[in-house]
Amino acid sequence: MKPEDQFIEFIAEKYSQISIDKDKITELDLGCGKGSFTTQLATKYPDRVIFAADIMLGRLRKLYKRNERSGIKNMRLLRCEAWHLINQSIPDSSLNRIHILCPDPWPKSRHKGNRLVSSEFVSRLYNKIKENGVFHFSSDDIPYFTLALEVLGKSGLFIRDDSKLNDISNIKTDFEERWNEMGLEVFHSAWIKKSI
Ligand SMILES: C[S@@+](CC[C@H](N)C(=O)[O-])C[C@H]1O[C@@H](n2cnc3c(N)ncnc32)[C@H](O)[C@@H]1O
Repeated sequence: MKPEDQFIEFIAEKYSQISIDKDKITELDLGCGKGSFTTQLATKYPDRVIFAADIMLGRLRKLYKRNERSGIKNMRLLRCEAWHLINQSIPDSSLNRIHILCPDPWPKSRHKGNRLVSSEFVSRLYNKIKENGVFHFSSDDIPYFTLALEVLGKSGLFIRDDSKLNDISNIKTDFEERWNEMGLEVFHSAWIKKSI
């Protein structure tokens, strides 16, 4: 246990839902990694609540220290496993925007089942997003990006509208920065929750 751990919410130890003020605009960066995107988002929108969620505790500890140095007060850090977080811990209709950015692509066919985005996962996400809220997905991996477009399109739960990312088009994740430096493109898509 490190001193900064008191500022990290350990989701696996919680079987109750986390508290979210539904009157506030709230965004979740799921699999935030080192959190450069999350930090820039929190800085851009100091009145919003920004959740930074990741399974890797070390990354969240570093992110906490960086937030402390930068005076960021509107970020909540969640140490969690993505399925557990979405299934057990996030109240329904509580998030304005969910970001899953450059998730592990699991390119080998025997590992494809490890990919986060699937029709089941997308339908769970749907329940957590507020009316007219947005799901933002990005990947540099063309097969994974194509699969995500297919899954989201076929789900009947979302309508694609990439203009919902206009406000954050200049904010990149650590992985996106890295891929761009190597000359690789990262593809983005935004999906509005349909009311059904
Ligand atoms: C490829 S990195 C991308 C990080 C960041 N989004 C970026 O673009 O720089 C994927 C991140 O997702 C996290 N992750 C992978 N599987 C996860 C899971 N099941 N639940 C929560 N986080 C997960 C990893 O720890 C890692 O930080």
